[in-house]
Amino acid sequence: MKKKTIEVKEFTQELDIFIKNMLETMYNADGIGLAANQVGNGVSILIVDENSVEKNKRSPIIMINPIIKLFGGDDVEYQEGCLSIPQFFENVIRKDDISIEYYDEKMKLKKLETNGLLSRIIQHEFDHLNGILFTERITPLKRALSKGKLRKIESGQTTPHYDMILPNGELLKADKQSK
Ligand code: CO
Repeated sequence: MKKKTIEVKEFTQELDIFIKNMLETMYNADGIGLAANQVGNGVSILIVDENSVEKNKRSPIIMINPIIKLFGGDDVEYQEGCLSIPQFFENVIRKDDISIEYYDEKMKLKKLETNGLLSRIIQHEFDHLNGILFTERITPLKRALSKGKLRKIESGQTTPHYDMILPNGELLKADKQSK
């Protein structure tokens, strides 16, 4: 998961099935975003759905080969979590505005300018595609304070209620009791 993902050249039926599985995984885990390499596929695909948790209203956006062209606006501090790092939440400072280009499932080029929560989720997932975890973006002090907890999570001692791929690529099966 620390490796950079590779570009999608052609939209195949396998990818179509894979994306449907990604969406299912994300919704099962009450997530609002997921990157392909979090579930063991090293391609450049991310999905986001900022409405899925709070309003239980599904409106996923699928981004293939996304590139953030521009970061702008204010620095905003906001608490993040990650399906790959269960039970860990910490503030991360990110730019509010982004301009992003990506391909949709018809391999049509799309452009999106956004801010707020949607911008934040996209930046977090875009980081995943580049092998960066949000724990690398917290302050060194906070990271030092969380070292023990993070090590426990990474070694699989903290089990989430959904199947997940650990940073070392291993599959961790869900602990249904902990839901
Ligand atoms: Co994440």
